Amino acid sequence: MTTKVMTTKVAVLVGSLRKDSYNRRLAQALEKLAPDDFKFNFIQIDDLPLYNQDFDSDYPAVYTRLKQDIEAADAVLLVTPEYNRSFPGVIKNAVDIASRPWGTNSFAGKPAGLIGISIGAIGTAVAQQHMRTVLSYLDVRTMNSPEAYLTNSEGMFDADGAIADANMRQFLQGWMDNFVAWVTDK
Ligand code: FNR
Repeated sequence: MTTKVMTTKVAVLVGSLRKDSYNRRLAQALEKLAPDDFKFNFIQIDDLPLYNQDFDSDYPAVYTRLKQDIEAADAVLLVTPEYNRSFPGVIKNAVDIASRPWGTNSFAGKPAGLIGISIGAIGTAVAQQHMRTVLSYLDVRTMNSPEAYLTNSEGMFDADGAIADANMRQFLQGWMDNFVAWVTDK
């Protein structure tokens, strides 16, 4: 008899296109804190043309790819910086594309986690509140607690990309454990 191992597929949206993005590194560090049966899929968003409603009648292939990536996932993890007290346009563009054409919202009903890191003292708090409003409208079940508003500090990540500080690692492990429970209804 073979035992089927269930995996939980997590679509990861990172709100920064920067090569050395702290948010991408945070997402990668979170992957290390997730259980083995959680599979992270880092979703490509840097090749998506700006959303244009004229495209709705003939959705571009890259838009359809994004929608399929989201629909194939059991959960969504959004890791975003704060730009000018909101989230960056690149991630809004991706969210808008996956939410359309009207009636085909790829996010509907998905459980999600939202987290971010910035160099500012309030650690993406405002960006996350704005994103919560958007996700709520899109019928996404975003985890409410714990919140995580992180400020990048020197030595945040070790040479392997893991969280270097033991206290921060413990906090983020707790965040991940809650996310796992939220997503798997445990
Ligand atoms: C920022 N940054 C920033 N930080 C913050 O805490 N609140 C803010 O409102 C802003 N606004 C802002 C606007 C723009 C256009 C840029 C480029 C930057 C700084 C931001 O936290 C920093 O650049 C992070 O490093 C961005 O995240 P990534 O790219 O490292 O993931």
